[in-house]
Amino acid sequence: MALSIVILAAGKGKRMVSSIPKVMHQLGGVSLLERVVQTAESLKPKKIHVVYGNGGSKLPESLPHLNVNWIFQKEQLGTGHAVQQALPACGDDERILVLYGDVPVISAQTLRQLLDETSKNGVGLLVTNLEDPTGFGRIVRDHNDNIVAIIEEKDATRTQRAIKEINTGIVTAPAKYLKNCLPRISNHNAQNEFYLTDMIALAVEDGLSVRSVTAHNSNEVRGVNDPWQLVTLERYYQTERARELAYSGVTIMDPARLDIRGNVSVTPSTKLDVNVILEGAVKIGANCDIGPNVVIKNSTLGERVKVFANSVIEGAVIEDDCEVGPFARVRAETILKSHSKVGNFVETKKTILGEHSKASHLTYLGDAVIGKNVNIGAGTITCNYDGVNKWPTKIGDGAFIGSNTSLIAPVEVGENATVAASSAITKSAPAEQLTITRAKQMVVPGWKRPR
Ligand code: UD1
Ligand code: CA
Repeated sequence: MALSIVILAAGKGKRMVSSIPKVMHQLGGVSLLERVVQTAESLKPKKIHVVYGNGGSKLPESLPHLNVNWIFQKEQLGTGHAVQQALPACGDDERILVLYGDVPVISAQTLRQLLDETSKNGVGLLVTNLEDPTGFGRIVRDHNDNIVAIIEEKDATRTQRAIKEINTGIVTAPAKYLKNCLPRISNHNAQNEFYLTDMIALAVEDGLSVRSVTAHNSNEVRGVNDPWQLVTLERYYQTERARELAYSGVTIMDPARLDIRGNVSVTPSTKLDVNVILEGAVKIGANCDIGPNVVIKNSTLGERVKVFANSVIEGAVIEDDCEVGPFARVRAETILKSHSKVGNFVETKKTILGEHSKASHLTYLGDAVIGKNVNIGAGTITCNYDGVNKWPTKIGDGAFIGSNTSLIAPVEVGENATVAASSAITKSAPAEQLTITRAKQMVVPGWKRPR
């Protein structure tokens, strides 16, 4: 039986007090909706439908890369009505799984368990037990412990409100049955909404199997309804990522001061000091040492790389045994070949720094290709920009660039060339030779300071 997933995301999310649709808020650097879609995709469904509404009318434009079928729900008449909007796009032979765009950390494992442990021809409910069930639909059971209905809090009696077993909202049922049952649901309730949860009592009457699976980690089914729930869920998510990394053998100095905002892989035996932020697609090899206050975004680091405090690395490839920082800024399209070094107050952009080459202090390297064993003196600047165009600088293997050199691009320095300190290089500096552009030092006879 083919599986289709319907994600409900039409709510306005008024309580978020925000100008962007609720499900566009980010958790761990990824929008809530995208997280749910990613989890849904991992179940390999035939199709994913996302029901969106006025409050989130920019969703399809905001997330054009999502491979989903967008379904517009004109008016938010309730969860039952929302699911109904998706049914014309679902075949009668399909099994439907309903997820929520604002329940972003539900795991694929729990969903698989729900699908595996409940009948394909019946209704499967994901439930959990909460010390404080306030706000949730309660699971009502008979004397034999069979589910008979879900009662929304606003419609519940006092006794029903005391029930701690709650509806997570996540449910699976055959499309054919949903098509038959949802039109029979009424909105005669406290909120005048068409409740998806009313399907349960109907399914029991109709003699369908109605089974529940309990999510033992109730954190997974936490929803985001207000800004504080988002903040606390973010912290929960970050703790989980830190825990995973720690158990995999990564040394974390303080899990409360590590943020993972994307798709990150860190190899065991690497150390992450406090206030490290890893963002986007980041890969860090074994035995690296990432110092405090380091931001690494969309970059790949090899093995034994040392990144010292307060460095920012973005869009770079850093090979084995390199050293970066403290206070270095390694920008897009930088490649640091193995054993190379970028020291304090050095900025690089679109630059290849060859093996064993060093730019240890106070330097800007942009649009440069630098060979092996090159020493870039303190204060060296590649003047790559003429106000309109960017020009390249090429430095051969073994070259020595004296301190405070301006390399006015386009320009080339040959192999083993030496450039004297304080030179402004505008033409090629030939291989093996000393090039010096500095004016000769002289003493002005009889010069007096003005008084
Ligand atoms: C719902 C369940 C409740 C459950 C809780 C879990 C119903 C009637 N109640 O309550 O039993 O304990 O979730 O969090 O289903 N939505 C639409 N279109 C609509 C209405 C809602 O897309 O017309 C979406 C919302 O964007 C949201 C989700 O459906 O993502 C849930 O809707 P909401 O109104 O928040 O339901 P709850 O009152 O939380
Ligand atoms: Ca809700």
